[in-house]
Amino acid sequence: MLITLEGIEGSGKTTQLGHMVDYFKTKGKDCVVTREPGDTEIGRKIRAILLDPENKNLDPMAELFLYAADRAQHIEERIKPSILSGKIVISDRFHDATTVYQGCARGLHPDIINRIHRIVLKDLKPDVTLLFDLPPEIGLKRAWQQVNAGTRTNTETRFEKEALSFHEKVRQGYLDLARHEPERFYVIDASLPEEKVTAAIINILNGMTWVRHKSGGARIEIKKKITDD
Ligand code: TMP
Repeated sequence: MLITLEGIEGSGKTTQLGHMVDYFKTKGKDCVVTREPGDTEIGRKIRAILLDPENKNLDPMAELFLYAADRAQHIEERIKPSILSGKIVISDRFHDATTVYQGCARGLHPDIINRIHRIVLKDLKPDVTLLFDLPPEIGLKRAWQQVNAGTRTNTETRFEKEALSFHEKVRQGYLDLARHEPERFYVIDASLPEEKVTAAIINILNGMTWVRHKSGGARIEIKKKITDD
């Protein structure tokens, strides 16, 4: 079972991830928290290149392949073994981020992105994706406040430094994906106060029915969604 969290900078998904883990604990479900880029030892080195604000001339195609390399390592080393052992995996960003950041915002052709997804993901796809949506002016303001307060590192601000128009494209890209795959996506109004966002997420999680696979041991999958608000 793979749940992914997506959204622009400063959308609060990392904070909410902590609340999701608490929720699953109270339900007695084992979950593994992970992120892209940089959840593996190799991935951390790739992350340092990708997010370093000094790397201003990183070529978009090189950027795409670095994200793909991080993901390939992440899937093999972290995601697959966790899913096979029956855990719920919650990833702070996954392949949709490539579709919108490198595709919609950087402008790489969707055919290239989709080909890379097919190679790297094979048959793996998130079961559920929570999209934290808010206007980029608000998200970026929050992100820079965190950098200035020292709660977000200033050595990883390459994307925060992109123009507002770049972040608008990211936001619209995510919303388009959500419109095309309403079964997988839940769009959350991330401009609301933290506790209201948490309540919305818990409502979504409560609306899911979980079943254990008889043949596959402890694998947990969603049977149906009852509510999506
Ligand atoms: P974060 O860890 O603060 O979310 O930063 C990761 C950054 O990397 C964020 O700006 C989005 C960007 N990103 C991409 O451009 N493509 C991707 O495939 C992923 C996973 C992230």
